Amino acid sequence: MKIDSQKLIRAAAGAREGSVAPYSKFKVGAALLTKSGEIIGGANVESASYGLTCCAERVALFKALTSGKKDFVAVAVVARAPGGPMPCGACRQLLAEYAPGARVWVADSRDLKRNREFSVRELLPRAFVIVP
Ligand code: THU
Repeated sequence: MKIDSQKLIRAAAGAREGSVAPYSKFKVGAALLTKSGEIIGGANVESASYGLTCCAERVALFKALTSGKKDFVAVAVVARAPGGPMPCGACRQLLAEYAPGARVWVADSRDLKRNREFSVRELLPRAFVIVP
């Protein structure tokens, strides 16, 4: 399946507009692509109790999963960061669990063509799993 990475990156940039980041002012957007071609976006939401903040990637994942979506083939993450923002460790863990085969694009919001591509496995080798 050929993935239109620019379309997904643009969707993540659009989702970023929904960011609620009054403390860090660091706006992040994420977009997940399912095997059937659906795109689910999310953005970071911060709390005055800083540790309760939720990253864009996890907001997108939680939205998608709780809407019954699965089989994610790609995710894009956009923020004002050189070369694009690298997902944090917590998001890597969730991606490893729920989107293990996904391609990951990270892009700079100032120029969406400035992006990099990774695999989830590359971002989190030997992820924690519970073997049933
Ligand atoms: N953030 C994300 O949305 N994704 C990441 O992978 C790393 C960090 C957010 C959380 C917080 O709102 C802001 O970026 C600054 O840490």
